[in-house]
Order: sequence, then C-alpha cells, then structure tokens
Amino acid sequence: MTTQTLGVVMNGVTGRMGYRQHLVRSILAIREQGGVALADGSRVVLEPVLVGRDADKLRAMADRHGIAAWTTSLDTALADPANTIYFDAQVTTARERAIHAAIAAGKHIYTEKPTAETLTGALDLARAADAAGVKHGVVQDKLFLPGLLKLRRLIQGGFFGRILSVRGEFGYWVFEGDWQAAQRPSWNYRAEDGGGIVVDMFCHWSYVLENLFGRVEAVTAKAVTHIPTRWDEQGREYPATADDAAYGIFELAGGVVAQINSSWAVRVNRDELVEFQVDGTEGSAVAGLRRCRVQHRSATPTPVWNPDLPVTESFRDQWQEVPDNAGDSGFDNGFKVQWEDFVRHVVSDAPFAFDFLAGARGVQLAECGLRSSAEGRRIELPVLDGKSA
Ligand SMILES: NC(=O)c1ccc[n+]([C@@H]2O[C@H](COP(=O)([O-])OP(=O)(O)OC[C@H]3O[C@@H](n4cnc5c(N)ncnc54)[C@H](O)[C@@H]3O)[C@@H](O)[C@H]2O)c1
Repeated sequence: MTTQTLGVVMNGVTGRMGYRQHLVRSILAIREQGGVALADGSRVVLEPVLVGRDADKLRAMADRHGIAAWTTSLDTALADPANTIYFDAQVTTARERAIHAAIAAGKHIYTEKPTAETLTGALDLARAADAAGVKHGVVQDKLFLPGLLKLRRLIQGGFFGRILSVRGEFGYWVFEGDWQAAQRPSWNYRAEDGGGIVVDMFCHWSYVLENLFGRVEAVTAKAVTHIPTRWDEQGREYPATADDAAYGIFELAGGVVAQINSSWAVRVNRDELVEFQVDGTEGSAVAGLRRCRVQHRSATPTPVWNPDLPVTESFRDQWQEVPDNAGDSGFDNGFKVQWEDFVRHVVSDAPFAFDFLAGARGVQLAECGLRSSAEGRRIELPVLDGKSA
C-alpha cells in the first residue's frame, strides 16, 4: 500500500478549538487510524507542526502527544517545503495576516471561521488564494452534527413537503467570571479583540441555512450586550464591548423564513444546546446536536387553546425519534470528517464545497447582521460570486 506524508502547520493549537477539536479529535485521531484513505487505496499520513507564541506550552503538548515538530516561528514552519497545509485556529484578529503569509509561501489553507474580520478582508483572502493556485477551505462543522445529518436526510427524503419556517435556539449561560470562572475566552466579549456572538455564530448560521434550506437573501437582527461587565482569565474586571446575544430573522432563497436566537446570556431549558425546529406542510422536525424528532401531518394531534384547564397532553411525547442509521461505527467527529475531505481535496482534487468564498458569505452575514442591528433595518445580502472576489 502506498503512503504519502503531508506536513500540516497548525497555528493556535493551544486554544480551545485548536487543541481539542483539531489536534486531538482530528489530526491525532487520523494519525491513530493510519492516515486518510484515498479512493485508489493509498493513504495520506499527516505530520503536525505545532506553531504558537508560548514555547513551554508547545513543548509540553508535543511531548504529551509524541509530536516531533513545534516552533514559535511561523516563518520557519512555512519555509519548510514538507509542510503542505497551513491550518489556523488562532484568535480571529490574528488570522488574516497569517493566512496571507501562508498563501505567499504556497501552502494550501484550511482555517477556522470566521476567515477574516471584514467582508473585504475575507474576499481578499479568497482572491489571493485563487491567484496563488492553492486550495482553500473553512471549517463548517455544524453540518456534520448527527442531528443536522438526520435533518438533511429528512429534507432529501421529502419528509417536510414544502418547508415553511425554521426556528433555531442556540445558547447557554456563560459565567461572568467573578464568582464562577467563565467557560469561554474573554476576547469573545470584547469587540476590539474580534469578539461578539454575531461574528461568532452568524458564520455558522450562514452555511447551515444555505446548505439545508437556501441562501440567506436578507437579514434583520437585533444584537445586544446583556451583561456589560465581565472578569477575564486573570480575574480582572473588564467592560464587555461586544454583543452577547443576537435575535435574527433570515429570509432565504426559495421563501423559507428562519429565525435564530443566539445567546450567551440564557439558561438552557431545551434538550440540547442548539435546536432547530423545521415546520413543513407534510411534517415537522426538531433537530439538535445529536437527536432529531419528527411529527408527521398524519400524526399531528389537535391542540385546543383553553387556558381555563391544565394541560392534558405531553406535547414532547407526541414526537418520534429519527434513528441514527449510521452503521456500526456511528457518526464520526465532524471536524475530523471535514479534515479528511480537505486532505482528499488537496491530494486528489476531490470536491470540497466549503472554500474561502463560502467563508466570505459567513462573514458577510455577520457584517450585515451587525449593520441591521445598528441601523434598525432589514439588510439585503448581495450575491458574492467569483467575480466579486
Ligand atoms: N467551529 C467552531 O465551532 C468554533 C468554536 C469556537 C471558536 N471557533 C473559532 O476558533 C478560533 C479560536 O477560538 P478559541 O475559542 O479556540 O479561542 P482561544 O482563545 O481558546 O484560542 C486562541 C488561540 O489563538 C492564539 N493566539 C494567537 N495570537 C493571539 C493573540 N494576539 N491573543 C490571544 N491569543 C492569540 C492563542 O495562543 C490560542 O492558541 C476563533 O477564530 C473562533 O472564531 C470556532
């Protein structure tokens, strides 16, 4: 069996996403399984090169996982021709500059979202990557969640009839950081450091809505900062300058209306941290991270509004669980699946839909959502095509 080895420069691996989802659950898991299998039966082995600002942290991480290469110099890592792919999971504000350097060094690029801080920056990256002839991709992990894979299966199977609307609830309480430690990094709550829930989550809603229901054509959003003061990793009080909740209406090509609430200032009374209810003429579904339940029109009860009587039926029990049907191995980690797809795209030109232009559409939705909120009006999203990039 033939095997080839690709060096993967991984920048930002000491962070939450870089370490857990990308290094441990993706790259090291792929190494453990003997590489990425290609259609011709050969394999691609990935050799991570850890890049970051803190030598001690990188050395400890490399030792812990038996990784040979690490450096605090991005330029050194990019200069090595054995390193074919550059991956970025740094804080968002550090991303554009590093990716431009990697494109200039001829690397193929895979990155966390958002690809850039502004639409202009995101389109510049797409244009630069195309001009350099390198492959590019952006993480779109939510599409690979078991709950959303089941939802996609329902759509493809025609379960819903005509889809009318989508209602999404995303969120949980993020502690302020004074009497209990915050479970997210403090930069998420500072606009000047690239924070904010619109920038963070609208990139996700862009590709989720586009891939399942239709491209977002217009957005009306209200972004707010519910918690104005927080405490950082060092216990220092700081003003939260970024939005921590966003209430959005998204009008989709084809006529579906989606409403999604995103909040880090809400307590969970749901089955999962994100849930989407989809209502169609033939049936409805509620999909979360892992589960998906349906109610067909033939099994829809007749609720009758009568506030004088206590509720007599358990509405949640009137829904049916969609089975996994995912084979013996179950659903694989979505980040890992997408990494494998990107490697096949780089090595054997397999199709990969989630490129920098798709990433730019995510940034565009965030930008238009913030503008809608600031100006108090509905914003239409121009179609971005290769030419505008
Ligand atoms: N796909 C997803 O579901 C998802 C979820 C969360 C975050 N993200 C994205 O991943 C990226 C990282 O987010 P995170 O939550 O892992 O953040 P984090 O704060 O945990 O990690 C940030 C990383 O960037 C590095 N870094 C480089 N320059 C820095 C600087 N000037 N200041 C501070 N840190 C710097 C840090 O050392 C660290 O390795 C962000 O772009 C974020 O939007 C994606």
